[in-house]
Amino acid sequence: ATVPVLTIDGPSGSGKGTISRAVAQRLGWHYLDSGALYRAVGVAAGWADLDLDDAGALVRCTFDTTIGFDESGDELRVLVNGHDATDELRTETAGAAASAIAAIPEVRAALKDRQRAFRVEPGLVADGRDMGTVIFPDAGWKVFLTASAEERAERRYKQLKHKGVSVTMDGLLREILARDARDANRSVAPLRPAEDAVRIDTTGLGIDAVVERVLALLPARG
Ligand code: C5P
Repeated sequence: ATVPVLTIDGPSGSGKGTISRAVAQRLGWHYLDSGALYRAVGVAAGWADLDLDDAGALVRCTFDTTIGFDESGDELRVLVNGHDATDELRTETAGAAASAIAAIPEVRAALKDRQRAFRVEPGLVADGRDMGTVIFPDAGWKVFLTASAEERAERRYKQLKHKGVSVTMDGLLREILARDARDANRSVAPLRPAEDAVRIDTTGLGIDAVVERVLALLPARG
């Protein structure tokens, strides 16, 4: 039998990461943060001082970058070329680099098998933009999370403020809209719901409510 997969796609700030981790934990399944792979390549490209317009160099960088996940602590740590890059991965710089790199078809192709390798027993919750459309089109359950741009900017604002990063709501909203547009308009794997995805608008919903809605899609487990 094939290993079960639940895909959770959506734009940045839709709550995908938080929801996916919580659902994976409840199910006792593995978790794939596919954005972290693109961010990892973005960070490695930054370390190597690569030009974000040099597609050839970025493709080579993708092949050369080792990305490891350390799940032994309370928090998932991400190792890029052996260095703990967990915090650097979450910066807006890494996100913007990831989004630019993710528009290169050869980069997406190079990361395909690395993502599919996460599909191991007892099951996988995969979080990203094209999990249900490209990477795991045969997933048993597909969710597409949305939230208004204002709410996503606000969530991001709270997160960053909590970390002591100084940002403005206006600036964040602009960044989110720009990243949405880039992700939705690129020619390869643009952000769009799979035809068979269940859409959940999380605007005004708490984490627990969304987690319950997602879990309700899966058959009851005894
Ligand atoms: O989800 P996260 O914000 O970490 O993703 C960072 C960037 O990586 C996104 O803006 C998107 O361009 C890209 N990405 C992607 N496909 C995925 C996951 C992320 O193109 N499956």
